[in-house]
Amino acid sequence: MARPANLPVPTGTVSGPRAALKSPAEVRAAWRDAFRRVRAETEARAAHLSAEDQIVQSMADASPTKWHRAHVTWFFEQFLLVPHDPDYTVFDERFPFLFNSYYVAAGPRHARPQRGLITRPNGADVAGYREYVDAAVERLIANVPDADAARVFSILEIGLHHEQQHQELLLTDILHAFAQNPTDPAYDVNWQPPRAPQGPSDFVDVPAGIMTIGHDGDGFCFDNEIPLHDQLIPEVRIARHLVTNAEWLAFMRAGGYATPSLWLSDGWAVVQAEGWHAPGYWRQQDDAWFLMTLGGLKAVDPAAPVVHVSYYEADAFARFAGKHLPGEAEWEVAVRAGLLADAFGIAWQWTCSAYLPYPGYRAAEGALGEYNGKFMVNQMVLRGSSLATPEGHARASYRNFFCPPARWQFSGLRLAAFD
Ligand SMILES: [Fe+2]
Repeated sequence: MARPANLPVPTGTVSGPRAALKSPAEVRAAWRDAFRRVRAETEARAAHLSAEDQIVQSMADASPTKWHRAHVTWFFEQFLLVPHDPDYTVFDERFPFLFNSYYVAAGPRHARPQRGLITRPNGADVAGYREYVDAAVERLIANVPDADAARVFSILEIGLHHEQQHQELLLTDILHAFAQNPTDPAYDVNWQPPRAPQGPSDFVDVPAGIMTIGHDGDGFCFDNEIPLHDQLIPEVRIARHLVTNAEWLAFMRAGGYATPSLWLSDGWAVVQAEGWHAPGYWRQQDDAWFLMTLGGLKAVDPAAPVVHVSYYEADAFARFAGKHLPGEAEWEVAVRAGLLADAFGIAWQWTCSAYLPYPGYRAAEGALGEYNGKFMVNQMVLRGSSLATPEGHARASYRNFFCPPARWQFSGLRLAAFD
């Protein structure tokens, strides 16, 4: 039997290329497999960490590994199982309060900065929660009536992409915790940085004119990537490559962190308040610079792209270089034209675009409508993906966003120029 035209199938980020699925049974099996793959990846990332590692919270913006593992599980329980499985019983009535992140419509929640104080439930309890919800989700995938399958699979898909986002945060948050430890622990002693593509470090012309921006409807996207809309792209050039550590060291040696004229007012205030004089996790020992990585403390590689810079630093560097940060639409047109050598898999790239709704954007009704829309103020868009992004999670239209001072993500930059 042919698959109903409106029945979603796992695509892109979760399952690889869109499968040619013929029957509802094949569709259900594909969702089950996608669910298992994503859930297993979370556990694989957490497996490098001890029970003690998994409860630490080193700052308000970062969350403990144990919390991430439980929160993504709560997401499936709250938005998939409770509304769509009449036989489902919540695992523990106390968990929604502990593991709801920011969904006001889903009920009251524990204070984010105090997630690290929660030693109980312990790690084994959270593992049991995951197993319980895993089994319930697999039962729902197998048994949901055909009439409800499209809605159930669409929420399942959001849950899988949501869990992938937390897989990245799991790494960036534990790196921040380990960076506070004077013994420089490694998340994975065998970790190696991604290889940045080599090639000419020139600037190339971005196709100019009225261009269509946003997700094109093939496969999953978050609601902030639509509607498709037209934007005028000016005549501008964009760098094929990311800014390197060598270029950043030149900025530092030229007094970049001590020259207020290079900085936005808010950025200069943060430089002063935080005593910034190098990217995040950089440490100077004698005359050499080292960087805290997922593999522990490593010498800064001059040829590698710079990471752990804030929007304020990226903006100051661009001004120092006589260039600017590309707008997110310019970046998207450039990557679709195949102009960027290292768009994905190394460092998220700050753009000069404020995180705003696309024309005609409407958040979904209910608690899931809080996923993206309510954060569309006071944040800047980053494009691409990073070394911590799960395989296949990102795409040309993907919009990441963080506040301008944030630099605990793997965030870097590429330049653009009007000349
Ligand atoms: Fe979340």
